Amino acid sequence: MEITATALSLITAAAVIMIFSFRRLSRGRRRLPPGNLGLPFIGETLQLIAAYKTDNPEPFIDERVGRYGSIFTTHVFGEPTVFSADPEVNRFMLLNEGKLFDCSYPGSISNLLGRHSLLLMKGSLHKKMHSLVMSFANSAIIRDHLLLDIDRLVRLNMKSWSDRILLMEEAKKITFELTMKQLLSLDPCEWTEGLRKEYVLVIEGFFTLPFPIFSTTYRRAIQARTKVADALGLVVRQRRKEHEEGEKKSDMLGALLSSEEGAFSDEQIVDFLVSLLVAGYETTSTLMTLAVKFLTETPAALAQLKEEHEAIRAKKSSADALEWSDYKSMPFTQCVINETLRVGNIIGGIFRRTMEDVNVKGYTIPKGWKVFASLRAVHLDQHHFEDARAFNPWRWQKKSGAAMPGNVFTPFGGGPRLCPGYELARVSLSVFLHRMVTNFSWGTAEDDKLVFFPTTRTQKRYPIVLQRRQSSESN
Ligand code: HEM
Repeated sequence: MEITATALSLITAAAVIMIFSFRRLSRGRRRLPPGNLGLPFIGETLQLIAAYKTDNPEPFIDERVGRYGSIFTTHVFGEPTVFSADPEVNRFMLLNEGKLFDCSYPGSISNLLGRHSLLLMKGSLHKKMHSLVMSFANSAIIRDHLLLDIDRLVRLNMKSWSDRILLMEEAKKITFELTMKQLLSLDPCEWTEGLRKEYVLVIEGFFTLPFPIFSTTYRRAIQARTKVADALGLVVRQRRKEHEEGEKKSDMLGALLSSEEGAFSDEQIVDFLVSLLVAGYETTSTLMTLAVKFLTETPAALAQLKEEHEAIRAKKSSADALEWSDYKSMPFTQCVINETLRVGNIIGGIFRRTMEDVNVKGYTIPKGWKVFASLRAVHLDQHHFEDARAFNPWRWQKKSGAAMPGNVFTPFGGGPRLCPGYELARVSLSVFLHRMVTNFSWGTAEDDKLVFFPTTRTQKRYPIVLQRRQSSESN
């Protein structure tokens, strides 16, 4: 009884404080964006979660944009947050990273990432390490080194596919193996597969609700994170020894061991490697799955894509690997990729925290507040894209760079934290689609729908039935 009474008075006190601070901020010189802070403590968190469990892609934001405009205040995951569905405000947030806004992840996610993760780094170290990754995933490196590995690993995986697969699972396996190759020069083996199994548990921890004390999934993720770190730590130690003896490899680990004259500790390197694994894994594999899903639902687009890739294959012998010039002759594929990124919105938006009071569009967001730049709301806005919710890759054939302002299509973010893997993701998907359409015909095995919480994915991991095409034997 006593506990209930205390809890009730705490809730009432919190509600009063919230209402008064909201009013004070709104009435005074500092005008907050309009909105509703919802219930004490939980704010509008439950409405947000419930909304994203439906298959309407942007219900929470749509409703509030309709009521308050494209920038509004709410209270989710334990704190007041300003949401933006406005491309100019989003761009302002991304470009002012490190000046007016800082990246911000809940403690539960930071623990899994590790404190030396690129995603958590700030200031000059972040700048240096971000460009190191950029230089490892740029066009020249992909053209001269990675493309061949991507093509080889995609083919190797597809060779082992049965006639019914869960596409999302297969795409994840491919993506993990590609990343292992790129980071550590390791080919798939029992060790990498063991690591992948632990790693999958870590990833599950990212997507549980951030209440670590109550969540078995989260506790299991923390244990798996230790195992992954130990396993990677062994590789780092071995490679450091070889590096000191003059045996240098041209992969990401090699670059980290050479960087800062070898000053990075094993722990720093492991955290850094984990952050790259995390950033590329779910994203690229979801992109692969969604591209196939959207194409399956749009037969005219699938037919045009097949034509493009068969024309490339017709110029080569069936066992020939894909080359850079082939990748450069896939214009319709690039339209399909853009449209998948736009409609699929794998990263729906980006959280930041204000470093000082920030004025935007006549409002003031107080220092220390969370802000959320919704990329998805802009991508699905009818003002920027006609019939915005339809998958229509042909729209990109008409859109020249000049016709579309840069800030309405930002699937890879922007500013100092622009995704360093954007080109790698595009090339990986192009190769994957090439091998998919030239090797197989397929159909969906069960109805599967898109869901958007806690991540964008298909509910049943996209089960499909496959038929190997006769010409595919040696592809
Ligand atoms: C469909 C594929 C992908 C999408 C949609 C995507 C999207 C994004 C977005 C929106 C950000 C910005 C986050 C922010 O501003 O806080 C980001 C950051 C990042 N991405 Fe990607 N990404 C993809 C694939 C990859 C791949 C393949 C890699 C592997 C190298 C990668 C590595 C990273 C890293 C390391 C960051 C953090 C950058 C930083 O904080 O400085 N991403 N990504």
